[in-house]
Amino acid sequence: LRTFFPSFIKHSTVKKLAAIILAAGKGTRMKSSLPKVLHEIADRPMVFYPAEVALNMKCQSLVMVIGHGGEQIRDRLKSVKKIQYVLQKDQSGSAHAVLMTEPAFKNFEGDVLILSGDVPLLQSEMIRQLLECHQTEQNALTIATLKLSDPTGYGRVVRDSEGRVLKIVEETDTTEEERKINEVNGGLYVAKLPLLFEALKKVKKNPIKKEYYFTDLPVILQEMGHRVGGFLVEDSTELLGVNTRWDLAVAERMMQQRIQKKWMLSGVTIISPERTTIHSEVEIGEEGVIYPGAELLGKTKIGRGCVIEQGVILKDMVLEDRVTVKAYSYLEGSMVESEAVIGPFARIRPESRVSKKARIGNFVELKKTVLGEGSKANHLSYLGDAVIGKDVNVGAGTITCNYDGDKKYQTHIEDRVFIGSDTQLVAPVRVGKESYVGAGTTITKNVPAGSLALSREEQKNILGYSKKKKKK
Ligand code: UD1
Ligand code: CA
Repeated sequence: LRTFFPSFIKHSTVKKLAAIILAAGKGTRMKSSLPKVLHEIADRPMVFYPAEVALNMKCQSLVMVIGHGGEQIRDRLKSVKKIQYVLQKDQSGSAHAVLMTEPAFKNFEGDVLILSGDVPLLQSEMIRQLLECHQTEQNALTIATLKLSDPTGYGRVVRDSEGRVLKIVEETDTTEEERKINEVNGGLYVAKLPLLFEALKKVKKNPIKKEYYFTDLPVILQEMGHRVGGFLVEDSTELLGVNTRWDLAVAERMMQQRIQKKWMLSGVTIISPERTTIHSEVEIGEEGVIYPGAELLGKTKIGRGCVIEQGVILKDMVLEDRVTVKAYSYLEGSMVESEAVIGPFARIRPESRVSKKARIGNFVELKKTVLGEGSKANHLSYLGDAVIGKDVNVGAGTITCNYDGDKKYQTHIEDRVFIGSDTQLVAPVRVGKESYVGAGTTITKNVPAGSLALSREEQKNILGYSKKKKKK
């Protein structure tokens, strides 16, 4: 029948593809109560990365094998709707783990990608090449391999003269000769379904480890008359497995290089990439400059031409264009409009907004506060639950007393008000437009627009005081 159809029909039929992610292992070497695959890289659990690649490859279904901490994993990934979970109660080996997914692929015929939850640095392009190799060589199983100067701990890949993979030998089973082979199994595979399950049922328990090894498949498949291939991955870092917290830090640095390179190539200056952290969902506009020690975290979005100085932390912040954040400021969950200048040593807590061209100086804290266009709070202030209008000057040491020990209250400061230094505003209170508040005042009542408010006692000067004191 096939020869009857012109070839373009054959080519236009899309190959069916599915994916399995193995994430049942305990991750003993992490020494952690958190399941290994939930440890984070650039703010995402590491298992998120292989899942993302599988979804990028347009896999029809995505099945994740869970065991240790399974409930926690499901909960953390609940936003990724497409994942189907399969429980592997006892971790009796990688072959057993894959076999657990058989019921999920009842009516599926095609290729399946097998990924590991603890191999987070893989990229879609490499997987595309692996699939291409699998299809052109017409393999039943294709194994991603890598070359290592020190292959200790990995399964060694034994090939024949035509490049077929004859077998994989696990470290514990190697002969002295085999131990010298430096091409190793990367733990990432493509296989034909349903053939894979048929072969997996023939795997026997490894006598030493008492586990069912997935890596017994090359021998079994060849006995069944099928070809097994190996695809050597050029950039071996893509196959880095995370087993310890040291590996986790190495993977984080590599992910940082990728993320930061992307931003640098799009026109952002990052002065010292190895001393900068940028989470995966952050966005940065062109012509930005990021100084050493800055951390751009969570869902932070930065407009064009912003300057982020040394040691600044921005967490879930939105910055418009040409904002400057000076050294050692900590800004969180808030919005800063264009051309505003913040810091050094400023703190902005969630739900605040600093409007256009406004200025927040050193040791100023904002919480749930709006600071209007062109307004300034330059020194040593606490502004909480406040709505501050345009062109307001907030003097040094001004405090909004927003809390009575029980409830929080709002302070309103209208446009063009001048607040003298060391003022307390006992909320709820409103200072009307264009008013003045004298230095050292404690405001407890509303101030009508256009007035001067003063609450301090008049100054007395006692003349000749020091001379009299000395005589005594
Ligand atoms: C495995 C390979 C080895 C390869 C290495 C690459 C086997 C037998 N060996 O060794 O050839 O060089 O990966 O990193 O596969 N898992 C389960 N359930 C289980 C056992 C494992 O889900 O019962 C999962 C683990 O969570 C992990 C993956 O399977 O994601 C691999 O298992 P692991 O024990 O880490 O195998 P390695 O010793 O690393
Ligand atoms: Ca006072």
